[in-house]
Amino acid sequence: MKLSSFLYFANFGIRTVLFRKRNPILGTIIVTDKCNLKCKHCSVNNITAVVYPYRQIKAEMVKLYDMGVRILFFCGGETFLWKDREKTLRDLVVEAKRMGFLIVNVVTNGTFPIDLPEADLILLSLDGGRKEHNEIRGDTYDVIMENVKNATSDNICFYMAINQINKYAVQDVCLTARDTKNVRAVSFNFHTPYPDTRELALSREEKEACCRKIVQMMEAGAPVFNLKSAFPYLVRNDFPTPCHQCVVMENGRLSTCGRCIAVPGLCEKCGYFFVAEYTLLFRGNVRIILEMLGTYLKYI
Ligand SMILES: C[S@@+](CC[C@H](N)C(=O)[O-])C[C@H]1O[C@@H](n2cnc3c(N)ncnc32)[C@H](O)[C@@H]1O
Ligand code: SF4
Ligand code: SF4
Repeated sequence: MKLSSFLYFANFGIRTVLFRKRNPILGTIIVTDKCNLKCKHCSVNNITAVVYPYRQIKAEMVKLYDMGVRILFFCGGETFLWKDREKTLRDLVVEAKRMGFLIVNVVTNGTFPIDLPEADLILLSLDGGRKEHNEIRGDTYDVIMENVKNATSDNICFYMAINQINKYAVQDVCLTARDTKNVRAVSFNFHTPYPDTRELALSREEKEACCRKIVQMMEAGAPVFNLKSAFPYLVRNDFPTPCHQCVVMENGRLSTCGRCIAVPGLCEKCGYFFVAEYTLLFRGNVRIILEMLGTYLKYI
């Protein structure tokens, strides 16, 4: 991370903590909900299957930038399906950088060739070893690992949503992250139980066991892009929600924290690690602040 970006975020953080401000810093744009997969745990694919036009997405970027957002995520649906005439996802990333977003990340299922060196991080969903991943995501493991190997840059971070199917595969994904070319780290979430996937949620004891395993892997040197100080809050589900510093834009509609804010009762069962990490950070939790400094400077 550039020193100027670091100073910008430090200034934002200090002002947010001291004055209890609620301005956003992290924004996500949903470029389409169209997807080539139909993963067992996912409730947000192919609801409209509309690919939003470049002009609309650019206007959404401007709006987020003007609100103060400086960390931008492109998400879907499948982001690599996005195109508008000759423009591709890469043009969106380049434009976001040109506009002045300080960190620009993309979330993908990894089933398309990866040529996106301009992104700061490519969060690529890997949901276990071959067996668990394919059970959740169809027969995609081998094609994904081939795409990772052939990627044109080393900015990939695995992204694993831990649920009933893959709860024993945390170690496998940590070791794959450590040993695979072009991969910097792995970042975890727990399954967030939307009404149609409640049966995949983990119990408190299962979350505790997963966190113990992640800590063990961190201590053994595996590259994990999460903050272990947030784990007890994630296990107990007692971190503050929603995250007011995070916003999502989909088809012109702005939501605080996530699109899931519209689902009654879901926030109390939220499994997204970023929510715990950011809300605790901006409440001034000293251990989280110190750990975040080290982790972000290491991986971005
Ligand atoms: C909705 S997908 C969109 C981007 C891309 N298609 C992908 O799979 O990475 C973004 C991330 O959300 C995760 N996800 C989907 N449903 C979830 C849920 N109910 N709880 C936690 N994570 C979930 C996916 O595993 C994926 O890592
Ligand atoms: S690839 Fe992503 S958007 Fe598509 S079904 Fe799977 S989790 Fe959902
Ligand atoms: S806190 Fe609520 S809105 Fe935010 S990600 Fe979790 S479930 Fe979604």
